[in-house]
Amino acid sequence: MNCCCPHANSANRLFSFFAGSYRKRFEKKGFEPSQQQLLEGLEQAGYKDAKILEIGSGVGHLHQTLLERGAASAVGVDLASRMIAEARQWAEERKLTDKTDYVEGDFMEISESLRDAEVTVLDKVVCCYPDADGLIHSSLSKTSRVYALTYPRDRWYVRTMMGFVVFAMKIMRSDFRPYVHSPVHIENWITAAGFDKLYQNHNLVWLTQVYVKPSI
Ligand SMILES: C[S@@+](CC[C@H](N)C(=O)[O-])C[C@H]1O[C@@H](n2cnc3c(N)ncnc32)[C@H](O)[C@@H]1O
Repeated sequence: MNCCCPHANSANRLFSFFAGSYRKRFEKKGFEPSQQQLLEGLEQAGYKDAKILEIGSGVGHLHQTLLERGAASAVGVDLASRMIAEARQWAEERKLTDKTDYVEGDFMEISESLRDAEVTVLDKVVCCYPDADGLIHSSLSKTSRVYALTYPRDRWYVRTMMGFVVFAMKIMRSDFRPYVHSPVHIENWITAAGFDKLYQNHNLVWLTQVYVKPSI
């Protein structure tokens, strides 16, 4: 991946290193509790026959499951090359190649080249990106109906945990940093773009929200 942003290069290295373990974890344990909540919200919003855009799509298990349950097609975007490679391979094994398209790159750099989607999903991605405002507005502009995301709750213990991650990144000499962005700001940006909140749930760390745009 060619990218001028040090954050993206570091995130590529970090998440490529963990790509294999993301797939193994899912094969062993299935969806995490926060992902089960995300799926519950998406069921309520509806995604049958929809075009999906998943940003920070990792190894692909979330949108590939939506395809198996009735979505029409999916584009997975991730800046980590190994994540994209795992997702492509998994789509092949699940016989979903004709419904999937994978794009390697920083969503913020390539968003204009991506087609619009009815349903956009960002599962634990907003916390990887310094400019949450930019990421959310760019992804909202690609979305016609459903916007689903999971991101960290703004709690003292979540900030403490993130502090430990930052410390570990510094020791590893990585420029990657995790962020706890304000849920109040995030919600305001999404609703100001014309979406209504349909679903919200959380566990100790993650907040899951699904928004829908009312049909005119
Ligand atoms: C914490 S992982 C979550 C992966 C997947 N959504 C899941 O929950 O299994 C975050 C992923 O987002 C990707 N990512 C972070 N910022 C991104 C950006 N600006 N554009 C594209 N991908 C991004 C990372 O490479 C990584 O694979």
